[in-house]
Amino acid sequence: IQSVNDLAKTLKILGIEEVPQAPNTHPELNPVDLYRSHITDLLATATGVDQNIIYPVLQWTQTLDMGDLVLPVPALRIKGKKPNELAEDIASKLSETALIEKPAAGGTFIKFIFKPDPLRQIVIPSILKNGNAYGFNPHLGLRDPTDPSKGRKKIIVEFSSPNIAKPFHAGHLRSTIIGGFLSNLYDGAGWDVTRMNYLGDWGKQYGVLALGFEKYGNEEALLANPIAHLYDVYVRISGEQHAEDEKIKAKKEEIAALQKENKDVTEQTTELQNMVDDGVDEAARKYFKQMVDGDEAALGIWKRFRDLSIEKYKRTYGRLNIHYDEYSGESQVKDESMDKAAKTLEDTGVSERSEGAVLVDLTRWNKKLGKALVKKKDGTSLYLTRDIGAAAERMDKYNFDKMIYVVASQQDQHLAQLFKIMEVMGRKDIAERCTHVNFGMVLGMSTRRGTAKFLDDILETVGERMHDVMRANQAKYEQVEDPEKTADILGISAVMIQDMTGKRINNYNFDMDRMCSFEGDTGPYLQYAHARLSSITRKASDVSSADLLTADYTLLSEPHAINLVRSLAQWPDVFMNTIKTQEPVTVLTYLFKMTHALSSSYDHLQVVGSEPALKTARLALYVAARQVLGNGMRLLGLTPLERG
Ligand code: ARG
Repeated sequence: IQSVNDLAKTLKILGIEEVPQAPNTHPELNPVDLYRSHITDLLATATGVDQNIIYPVLQWTQTLDMGDLVLPVPALRIKGKKPNELAEDIASKLSETALIEKPAAGGTFIKFIFKPDPLRQIVIPSILKNGNAYGFNPHLGLRDPTDPSKGRKKIIVEFSSPNIAKPFHAGHLRSTIIGGFLSNLYDGAGWDVTRMNYLGDWGKQYGVLALGFEKYGNEEALLANPIAHLYDVYVRISGEQHAEDEKIKAKKEEIAALQKENKDVTEQTTELQNMVDDGVDEAARKYFKQMVDGDEAALGIWKRFRDLSIEKYKRTYGRLNIHYDEYSGESQVKDESMDKAAKTLEDTGVSERSEGAVLVDLTRWNKKLGKALVKKKDGTSLYLTRDIGAAAERMDKYNFDKMIYVVASQQDQHLAQLFKIMEVMGRKDIAERCTHVNFGMVLGMSTRRGTAKFLDDILETVGERMHDVMRANQAKYEQVEDPEKTADILGISAVMIQDMTGKRINNYNFDMDRMCSFEGDTGPYLQYAHARLSSITRKASDVSSADLLTADYTLLSEPHAINLVRSLAQWPDVFMNTIKTQEPVTVLTYLFKMTHALSSSYDHLQVVGSEPALKTARLALYVAARQVLGNGMRLLGLTPLERG
């Protein structure tokens, strides 16, 4: 990691005596901060506006034509003149400096362009020295930015949260991808992150599952693939349950018809009673009751299903570089927590009884929130009740500063109800720290084998497709060391990048052809870009990393080289902006822009065959680009490929 001293040495060579040290300024991590401080000084002198107002409004730009930083003049809050005129006015007072070209006004903005020479000398070593840390900012998560000993802020990211013995559907896939990304984002910002998976693992259906296993279960199949096997068992037993329901319904109709004709129904009633008593439904209810009452045998079986499923999930999540700190779940919520919440709800007059059940009439606060049931007639808890208890438990356990629920927008209402109930029952401390990060649907997520049901199947199918795409280029294919593994990583990248391509809230089509293409803004394209940079680095392995740090960067004089450096300088600001948007597409848009700049550079900036000093300078630029691309990809959750 680059120290402030390191940077000071570089700056001294450029004639800059002091490293800016204002709060929230970290030029040793983010070279643009140096420019921000410098320009803030200039503007403060020219306008008399307070530095603290100027610094935060100097914005990063989406396209380099707009400049490297811009100042939206209205943000200075100077009264009296029109922003256009003011911009002209201020710009005319500013001149060229050692770091920047003469600033120019453009409408209500002033645009600042960094001079290439110092920029190259500051940015390239910053990237090379900071390595995997370049772009991230661990100060953001400090409780007190001026005193690291006060510790870091705590965040829980709850994501993926599939249901045991049920399909892993598109909503879970998106939650996994987006939640993994958000966890990495907060990690990169220095927060103390707890990754939590809140499994759907409680309710009468787990009684059904246990019965099904007694009948159809197979020990070998369970151990081989617990998730798929339990699902099969569940489908069979619930099919049976459904058939029984039909028969019971028919019998009831028969009885009703007979009664109409005033016939004796004693025999039919006994039959009906026997059907109900011997049926799956009743047995499942009893079984689940045993689980609720803590019967060890019943719980033991269920726990085994849960543990085996988690083991399997862990392996699959591992393929996506996701590792959870806690596998919680609906089953883990303690009765005490729910009882305590129920009591508070009652004592505060928030809940009311209605025909034996308990509900909260949220329309008192917000019409749209409707009425929410918190206890069923038979006294059992609901999905919502468990979430209320869980939120309170998490606060006790982690004392979090923020908690994110990454859940599909189909559950907007559920989470809005949850947060409101927490607030009105007197747990504003929890409610105001919670956010729901939602997202749209995936349309047409089916594969050749039919509709994919498990995460593994989805990844398998896409991996196979990537393997086909790779085989199409036989010559290249033969050079790939481990085609199986490479295809797997490419497939995962394809799925993830497609998911991250739009704003989270948008729906998108699961399009295998498109996501698996090496052309266009796809996962394989990014992987290819990274592999190509890695190959350039390998081919110039005679140049040492010390050589790269002392290269003569002034040789990088072509417009392509300069623009690439400017683009690389933006990465830390892109990261900062992503914290605000919480959108993977913010990162992705940048990475594609950067890799496009890169791919149009190769013909102009060749490494092999150039004379040694130039070769070293260009190589330094490519190594820096590889670092930035890799850092961005890892933030998204991808495994950057070395060879493609
Ligand atoms: N298991 C739920 C489902 O599949 C998602 C859980 C979301 N998280 C929560 N705290 N409610 O629909």
